[in-house]
Amino acid sequence: ATNRTFTMIKPDAVEDGHIGAILEKITSSGFKIAALKLTQMTVADAQEFYAVHSERPFYGELVEFMSRGPIVAAVLEKDNAVADFRTLIGATNPAEAADGTLRKLFAKSVGENAVHGSDSDENAAVEAAFHFAGREMF
Ligand code: CMP
Repeated sequence: ATNRTFTMIKPDAVEDGHIGAILEKITSSGFKIAALKLTQMTVADAQEFYAVHSERPFYGELVEFMSRGPIVAAVLEKDNAVADFRTLIGATNPAEAADGTLRKLFAKSVGENAVHGSDSDENAAVEAAFHFAGREMF
């Protein structure tokens, strides 16, 4: 069924000038853009967005990284969007990411890994609502 996922082009990939190349890969892979913006998370935003990871040893580093500069937030629509987008981005660790995946192409490390993709339909809806007002989603 057609459904939606939420993505962020992370600060590392924005800093490195990869916004256009990543959006090109996303749309040429069959995802339709339903919402899109350049934005920046405050430290408090990043703490809340990643609250599920608050007990992990990398939480502080993750919050600092995700709030250090602008990101591109987007909602993407496609048949089987959540699973297919996770396939397109590849493994969390770029050293383990398959050829042709966004993380293989653009990620630097397990922390600075270029792209976020929601892990479930439920989280996609929560994450989209975190970043977008209803009138910004089409
Ligand atoms: P993502 O899977 O999008 O969301 C959780 C993020 O935590 C992950 O991307 C990485 O950016 C980060 N992360 C996961 N594991 C580690 C790790 N071992 N060290 C640092 N950051 C990590």
